[in-house]
Formats: sequence, structure tokens, C-alpha cells
Amino acid sequence: MKIALIPGDGIGKEVMTEGKKVIDAVSEKLNFEISWNEYNFGAERYLKEGKTLTEDDLKELSKNKSIYFSAIGDPRVKPGILEKGILLAIRFYFDEYVNLRPIKFFEGIAPVLKDKNAKDINFYAVRENTEDFYVGIGSNEFKKRHKDEFKILRNLYNVKFNLDIESDKDEIAYQIGILSKKGCERIIKYAFELAKRKNLDLVTSVDKANVLNFYTPWRKIFEKISKNYRNIKTEYLYVDAASMFFVLKPERFKVVVVPNMFGDILTDLGAGICGGLGTAASGNINPDGISMFEPVHGSAPDIAGKGIANPIAQILAGAMMLDELKKPEAANLIIKAVEDVLKEGKVRTPDLGGNAKTKDVGDEIVKKIKEM
Ligand code: NAI
Ligand code: MG
Repeated sequence: MKIALIPGDGIGKEVMTEGKKVIDAVSEKLNFEISWNEYNFGAERYLKEGKTLTEDDLKELSKNKSIYFSAIGDPRVKPGILEKGILLAIRFYFDEYVNLRPIKFFEGIAPVLKDKNAKDINFYAVRENTEDFYVGIGSNEFKKRHKDEFKILRNLYNVKFNLDIESDKDEIAYQIGILSKKGCERIIKYAFELAKRKNLDLVTSVDKANVLNFYTPWRKIFEKISKNYRNIKTEYLYVDAASMFFVLKPERFKVVVVPNMFGDILTDLGAGICGGLGTAASGNINPDGISMFEPVHGSAPDIAGKGIANPIAQILAGAMMLDELKKPEAANLIIKAVEDVLKEGKVRTPDLGGNAKTKDVGDEIVKKIKEM
């Protein structure tokens, strides 16, 4: 299998070395082949050549089965340029409409929720990754007259839309959210398929249909699709209640499917109840195309170059990638090794209260995999 490797910037490069090492170890143990194609996309190249990602780069990336990504971002580059030019460009080009976030608490991490253990916090958040209030139709200033923004709607959804907003003062800013039938159907179907694949018997739909009307079709589509999965129970929660239950009763969740904006917030809350960035991994998935897997954290310029970054989120992103590539056994080996290392607590980086180096953690996880 050809896999694209994008180590990126700052600690991205450091944690990626360990992520790759761990995947190489499981592929050797379970006898499958990974061939890595490494790409230097990120701040260095941007500063030298002025390029983020070109059309050719994207075509080149298409030759791979999947993309293993670390983190980008550099203090020398204006915020947004690399994120939009690389990360969002990949998500958009490959139409990675699922943002999958395992919400999994590992024993050995300082607990955030008292009385909740690894058994209680273990579910999946499935966030829609392309629509809602993030389609980019809105104003970035208060103004009297809004007109041009709506062009995006025409191009993206091929709909006619002529709305002039005029007020007598420069007082209005606005944002438009879009949900399409196709967009709702495909993400909700993914959530049910995930539940089926993982043998989980509950899918929770989150919205705010009581106040924001346009979530009502989301709910209807959820209801319709759920009929094809008779063995899976369903429930609806408004996002405010869902947030409360993430904290008070995380054990009630198995698969949570949520539109983009609420998903953005809920998934970080999910990472929070698991102890933060150290173990939070994410997949940007197109089930029929090329997906990208990455840690949730950024390039951490404050600790870059010191060799002390925690590589576990990167390593768990690798497990997610193998799972999506239909290597669940390999994924589970990695997760088990991470669980063991964290539980033992002997080898951990400073963010988790230890004094190990990035490399020590990678080596220890590889050692566990070899012993299993
Ligand atoms: P960050 O996630 O890089 O760092 C936040 C804090 O967490 C820092 O104190 C950092 O030292 C710590 N931290 C993060 N990952 C860690 C790890 N693996 N081990 C130990 N400590 C860790 O977020 P920040 O500082 O807001 O952003 C830094 C740069 O990263 C910016 O350029 C930002 O745009 C970019 N970024 C990129 C992302 C991506 O590539 N997906 C995601 C988030 C931020
Ligand atoms: Mg976020």
C-alpha cells in the first residue's frame, strides 16, 4: 500500500518519525507492505518557494491510498495561509466529508472527569466536515449592503440565489449555513455503517432543530436512514443537552453524529474530557476516496526541536488510518500497545507528567507490539 507521509512543521516532524516507526512495526508483524511517499509540504517549502499546495501536488497525492499527516504552522508564516493552503485544500479536494474523532480516555492519563474511567469514556464522534456554517458564505465586516458573498452558493451548490441585504447603517454582519440532502445522507449513513462495523448498538443524532429550522431536514434524514439499521437504536439530543451529557454521562454514548459547527465544538469538548491534546487523533475521511489522518494538536512551536513532544496522538491517528484501510487487527495492536504503555506510566513525555523523550515513547510502543 502506498501511503503519503506529510510530516509538516515543528513537532509534526518529530512525532511523525514515531508514528511511521509504529506502523512499520505492525506491518512487519502482520505481514503487509507499506510504501511511504514523503512530501515536504509546510512552512519551509512555503518560505522558500512561495507554494502551499499546487494542482500537481494534489494530483501526486492522489496516487496514494491514504494520507498520514502530522501538523503544520510556523510563527514565520501568517496564520491561516498554511492551514487553508494545505490542510483545508486537501480536505476539500478529496471531499473528505467525515471528520471522525474517537473519544477515548486512556487509563494512566490524569482524569478530567472524576469517577469516570476508560470504560465510561469510549465512543466515536462523527462530525460532518464540509457544510453547515463553514461553507464560507458570510460577511467579515458590518456593512450596509451585502451582495457578492452569494456567488459562492451558485458555484458550490448550483443554486440560484439572489439576496440583497440592505440596511440604512453599517450595522449588519451575517453568516449562512447550508445543509444539502446529499451532505446529510452521506454523513449519517457513515455513522450507522461505523456502528455496524464496530458492533455498537446506538447512534445519537445531535442538532438544534428546535431553534434553527434548517436542522429539521437533518433529523428527518436521520430518521429515514435509521430504518435501514433495525438493530441499532437511535436517539436525538439538542447540542446543549449533548454537551452536558458529554461531561455528566459520557458512558451513554456510542456513536454521535453531528453537523459541522456543533461538531467542531463537541469534538474538542470530547478531547477535553479525555485529558486534552495528548491522545486526540482525527480522521478526515472519504469512504470511497482518499482520506487523511492526523493528530488534533498543531505544530507546537513552543516545544519544537526539543524532542519532548508526545507522539501518542500521531500514533493513534496511524491506528485510525489502518482501521480505515481495512486492517483492524493492526489498528487494535497499536491501540492495545498505547493502552499498556500509558497504564504502566513508566515512559511518558512531560505533558503527561513524565520525563521521557518523544523517541522513548515510540520505542516503548514498538517494543510492546513486538511482544504481543
Ligand atoms: P498546538 O496544538 O500546536 O499547541 C498547543 C499547546 O499544546 C502548546 O503549549 C503545545 O506545546 C502543546 N502541545 C501540542 N501538541 C503537543 C504534543 N504532541 N506534546 C506535547 N505538547 C503538545 O496549538 P497552537 O499553539 O495553537 O498552534 C501552533 C501552530 O500549529 C499554529 O501555527 C497553528 O496554526 C497550528 N495548528 C495546526 C493544526 C494542524 O496542522 N492540524 C491544528 C492546530 C494548530
Ligand atoms: Mg476545532
